[in-house]
Amino acid sequence: MFIGLDLGTSGLKGVLIAPDQRLVAEAHAPLEVSRPQDGWSEQDPADWIAAAEAVLAALAAQADLSGVLGIGLSGQMHGATLLDKADAVLRPCILWNDTRAAAEAAALDADPRFRAITGNIVFPGFTAPKLMWVKANEPKVWARIAKVLLPKDYLRLWLTGEAVGEMSDAAGTSWLDTGKRDWSDDLLAATDLGRGHMPRLVEGSAVSGTVRDDLAARWGLPRGVVVAGGGGDNAASGVGVGVVNAGDGFVSIGTSGVLFAASAAYQPAPETAVHTFCHALPGTWHQMGVILAAADALNWFAHVLGSPSSALTADLGPLQAPGHGLFLPYLGGERTPHNDARIRGAFLHLDHATDRAQMVRTVMEGVAHAFRDSFDALTATGTKIERLIAVGGGSKSDYWVQAIATALDLPIGLPIAGDFGGAFGAARLALMAATGAGAEVATLPQIARVIEPDRALVPAFATAHARYRAAYAALKGLN
Ligand code: XUL
Repeated sequence: MFIGLDLGTSGLKGVLIAPDQRLVAEAHAPLEVSRPQDGWSEQDPADWIAAAEAVLAALAAQADLSGVLGIGLSGQMHGATLLDKADAVLRPCILWNDTRAAAEAAALDADPRFRAITGNIVFPGFTAPKLMWVKANEPKVWARIAKVLLPKDYLRLWLTGEAVGEMSDAAGTSWLDTGKRDWSDDLLAATDLGRGHMPRLVEGSAVSGTVRDDLAARWGLPRGVVVAGGGGDNAASGVGVGVVNAGDGFVSIGTSGVLFAASAAYQPAPETAVHTFCHALPGTWHQMGVILAAADALNWFAHVLGSPSSALTADLGPLQAPGHGLFLPYLGGERTPHNDARIRGAFLHLDHATDRAQMVRTVMEGVAHAFRDSFDALTATGTKIERLIAVGGGSKSDYWVQAIATALDLPIGLPIAGDFGGAFGAARLALMAATGAGAEVATLPQIARVIEPDRALVPAFATAHARYRAAYAALKGLN
């Protein structure tokens, strides 16, 4: 059996799968984000460990774990977990959706080596600019930094005692030579760091270490369970949903929104604000457009209304043409296609008839338009998406999936019941690491239903998208 752990932003999820990949048990522990200032987003790494302990204990309560051969890790990308030389955490982790390091990111991005070597813009949410922010604003912390780990790699340190990272997550740091799949000494030196501050790198499907004996004993794991490299949550989801070959893509409607395409080769196009990262399997890469607030935007609105988001989307009826109202989901800035940390969200063109249901639809349409922006950016790089699958919490709403399908004018497949996200992908990577199996285990899921675009509404969505673009330009002018 194999365990996958996905350290998400809103919670840590664990799955236990059988050798035939059947789901045997699953568990979840919630996590909170702290936002001490506008644009800031932090978590205490101690909470991740507590969540992992709760999830592993819950899995052990549901099933005998003595037959587990491997554990795989998936996690929110880009977070800066800063450790001193005794591996003690120096400050709360600065997360992927934190934009405080916008000035530092722009300064690094102005050095042409970063785009040339990493294949990406240096976004404020990436790891390297966060280190520059710490250097400028928290010099005492900076002076004590001995190791920089990504969130799931900190979990690995706890689980195995070893500082190891893997390619897909490392590609989001701004320190990786993404084509060569190795740290860039030049880029590390440009931020006053060196290889010694970084973990050793393995491929996602390779062995990174084994579970510590004291921890294994706690949950009835056998000795020597291998821990696979795993992946950043999007690459791990790609493995989970079988999106590993060019032409295949998925749309993830999670806290963030991701339009993800597997690619056969390394094809960077940083000017489009599309992310080009290593995939979690050796010798493969992927591209994605990233929206900072997707389900997070609806959750924000649900919080404002004091109602759970599932209640807001429960009875929206069939897809409607976008009204005159617009919503821009830029609550904490935006990555693709704008690379704009200062922009903020907006409702526009409300009128006396605007009611709660209309505003909920408008929020969902706004996220659909943001996906259209990412689709256009991906297409501009020459990447083609022939098949698209929806994953993530937001994919439970047919209304939302059809709004996105209509905005993209592309059918979207919904997998059969089950979870094909990062945790499942991580469990598949554990299976590969423990048994030597290859990419053939990362099959596409059976598709339960295909949500077709509402062809009659495609022009109306396109018109609304053009107004959405104009609204962004106007909002930018107000900054
Ligand atoms: C990807 C990104 C997000 C996080 C969310 O670049 O920042 O999708 O990985 O967990």
